[in-house]
Amino acid sequence: MPDVDLTVQLGPLTLKNPVMPASGTFEYSEEQRELFDLARLGAMVAKSVTLKRRPGNPAPRLHEVTAGLLNAVGIPSEGIHHFIEVTLPALAQIDTTLIVSIAGDSVEEFATVARMLDPYRGQVSALELNLSCPNLTHGVPFATDEKLMRATVEAVRESTTLPIIAKLSPNVTDIVKMAGIAREAGADIISMINTLIGMAIDVETRRPVLGNVVGGLSGPAIKPVALRMIWETSQSVDIPIIGMGGISNARDAIEFMLAGASAVAVGVASFRNPLVMLEIVDGIESYLAGHGFGSPKEIVGLAWKERMV
Ligand SMILES: Cc1cc2nc3c(=O)[nH]c(=O)nc-3n(C[C@H](O)[C@H](O)[C@H](O)COP(=O)(O)O)c2cc1C
Repeated sequence: MPDVDLTVQLGPLTLKNPVMPASGTFEYSEEQRELFDLARLGAMVAKSVTLKRRPGNPAPRLHEVTAGLLNAVGIPSEGIHHFIEVTLPALAQIDTTLIVSIAGDSVEEFATVARMLDPYRGQVSALELNLSCPNLTHGVPFATDEKLMRATVEAVRESTTLPIIAKLSPNVTDIVKMAGIAREAGADIISMINTLIGMAIDVETRRPVLGNVVGGLSGPAIKPVALRMIWETSQSVDIPIIGMGGISNARDAIEFMLAGASAVAVGVASFRNPLVMLEIVDGIESYLAGHGFGSPKEIVGLAWKERMV
């Protein structure tokens, strides 16, 4: 069996392996630290942070559905000052790449948060833009409007020297077009997908279950959608993709890489099994070794590359 080097290069970003948490689903805590060695993650990804403190949506915020989870958490955030003073020093202790997810109600808010994080480039390795949050002025998510998406990525590009990861929403007609716009506007990496908008109704109360009425669907239910979108995007847009959406084990992660993702992120699967990300790192390594590959990049997009020969 060949020796496997799990290092991956995502544009300007080097990761020790291709596995990381999906933003908002894996909070740093002392218990996590005791449970496993966080330094074994390819990257740590922080929950989206906004300029000011915000409480998030009314309860109930989570609802389990067939093969997935609906969440309407609504980006509760302690605000960027608290993040810089309290959260960042704790996250910086973890001996791995740190990706900070940022969100905002306006293009200017994204740019301001990016600018405030720029001096911390020794600790922060990249910014991920949570473009699925709604823009207050236009009332639609940044990621679903071409002009807003372009303006936001451009504004962040002008405000930071850090690598930019544009996180795409699946709630669009043409995901490839949106990925192309993010790239043109200055994104170094694409991450996809965020949650699919859904809802549930309680037949006894005859009311929507979630306090916010609608929420984002994640988990195994969205995996085929995520895979298809990565398959299409990776063939058209020439920047690396971090794939996510329903990854629950190493075989799922490998499917995403074969579809065209250079790295993967794990969301709700960690709720059920907090150790799943480490199992995925090990599973990718044994798959690569067992199939004669020396590194993860050798399998990226193979499902479509092999069809072409
Ligand atoms: C409870 C919860 C909170 C989330 N919070 C964020 C967030 O703060 N920022 C973000 O970009 N995505 C957030 N997401 C979306 C995830 O990062 C991920 O894109 C999505 O859950 C799909 O992956 P999964 O099916 O593996 O969970 C959240 C998802 C869940 C379930």
